[in-house]
Amino acid sequence: MATANSFDVVVIGAGPGGYIAAIRAAQLGLSVACIDEWKNEKGGPAPGGTCTNVGCIPSKALLQSSENFEHAGHQFAEHGIVVDKLAIDVARMMARKKTVVKQNNDGILYLFKKNKVSFFHGRGSFAGRGEGGLWQVAVAGAKAETLSARHVIVATGSNARPLPGAPFDEKNILSNDGALAIGAVPKTLGIVGSGVIGLEMGSVWRRLGADVTVLEALPTFLGAVDTQVATEAHKTFTRQGLKIVLGAKISAVDRGAAGVKVSYADASGKAQTLACDKLIVSIGRVPNTIGLNGDAVGLAVDDRGFVTVDDDCRTNLENVWAVGDVVRGPMLAHKGEEEGAAVAERIVGQKPHVDFNTVPWVIYTSPEIAWVGQTEQQLKAAGREVRAGTFPFMANGRARALGDTSGFVKVIADARTDEILGVHMIGPMVSELISEAVVAMEFKASAEDIGRICHAHPSLSEATKEAALAVAKRALNF
Ligand code: FAD
Ligand code: NAI
Repeated sequence: MATANSFDVVVIGAGPGGYIAAIRAAQLGLSVACIDEWKNEKGGPAPGGTCTNVGCIPSKALLQSSENFEHAGHQFAEHGIVVDKLAIDVARMMARKKTVVKQNNDGILYLFKKNKVSFFHGRGSFAGRGEGGLWQVAVAGAKAETLSARHVIVATGSNARPLPGAPFDEKNILSNDGALAIGAVPKTLGIVGSGVIGLEMGSVWRRLGADVTVLEALPTFLGAVDTQVATEAHKTFTRQGLKIVLGAKISAVDRGAAGVKVSYADASGKAQTLACDKLIVSIGRVPNTIGLNGDAVGLAVDDRGFVTVDDDCRTNLENVWAVGDVVRGPMLAHKGEEEGAAVAERIVGQKPHVDFNTVPWVIYTSPEIAWVGQTEQQLKAAGREVRAGTFPFMANGRARALGDTSGFVKVIADARTDEILGVHMIGPMVSELISEAVVAMEFKASAEDIGRICHAHPSLSEATKEAALAVAKRALNF
């Protein structure tokens, strides 16, 4: 039972990890407060965290706008649709993005109300333990308050990592925040890091007409992705016009009136410079515990700043849990959501399980890239004997009708048991197709299981069925 400011659970952070934890805890009958400090343009609350405000949602809005623009310019003609004087109104595109973000902010506030989660707008910080060992959490917002709680869930997310000596100014040197709010298409755009943000943001601005160069420190492209998919992606993105420089060692970043100059050594060690109007730095993210006052209560963090947790998201402190980007594991919204829901269930004594091996990854470029489970190179390195089947979208009727036949689906199965160990996709709408593979892996399906399931025709999902059949060299349409 909650008294005015006393709760069963206080969640700090209303990103995907935090707000889902709060809702699930409330569904389970607990009294719950959620504190979040994100402000909208008017200073009001904007729950949803990085994901809603400067991450998943706005990036997908801009990816859609820019893809529509590219289709209008390059693909409509073959459908007999004539577009005269194609132009992009960046201000309008950004206004639409803001509307989409606000719909999501408002949606979370509505869900809090519906589930009777008390929302506090402001910064939450540990203020020690009070009577009965209850945690005290101070809220610094429009008014200062102190909440007490049996359990605290830390879901404070992550921040963009700057290049040493080149802090973000969000004008010329941009984090994800600035990259999602560029006011006009830059003539030249530099990107440091060919990871997920670099490729998604590079795609947005290239489609709208920017000359985009991506500088990647590693000698391999998308090293964590199945090699066959990464090779196809590199070929396709390069053909689309992204300039990808691998093995680039950056030595200096200089800001000038006209833009940014990046000095780097290329893979052969030769000194090079890249002059660009804007530079997006997307070299990974760091966990955020700023202002949490965790030190004062002895909250343990590891040497990289992540809050230390066990497999169940328990921290070193009694009844303090942590989920999402602020703890180990992939920095993905849906990973944080699963952890948040699971922690709420553990608080009431349930025994949920989050399997990191079945957390899907998606890169929302065009073609999209999606995977779940292990790559062929990981499995071979681990000495597993596997069989792989691939099926190209070129041979899929729906993909031909869509006019998007790039890429393929690859299913990897254990050579002896046929259990699916990984599914890797590059092609149209694979962000949606990957869910079938996740379900299959959760149920420990064999490749033959997918091959025997009836898939609607014509649909892109038939490529998954065919790739599964191809594991036993019995694809029907290729
Ligand atoms: P966050 O979303 O970062 O939320 C943390 C919240 O806590 C914030 O609102 C913050 O203001 C608040 N907070 C922090 N400290 C305090 C405090 N002391 N008091 C009060 N409030 C506090 N992931 C995907 O799965 N799919 C995608 O398509 C995707 N696209 C992305 C695109 C970009 C450009 C970026 C940057 C990220 C993307 N991500 C994507 C990653 C995803 O955004 C994160 O994994 C996710 O937001 C992490 O959720 P979280 O709840 O842990 O933290
Ligand atoms: P990332 O980890 O995906 O990629 C960073 C890249 O930068 C790597 O390739 C790395 O080798 C490179 N790099 C690091 N230091 C460098 C340097 N000094 N010079 C040049 N290259 C350097 O990180 P990113 O793109 O910043 O994204 C952060 C996280 O946000 C992702 O890992 C992902 O978890 C999440 N995200 C998820 C999305 C999705 O699910 N679709 C979309 C965008 C972000």
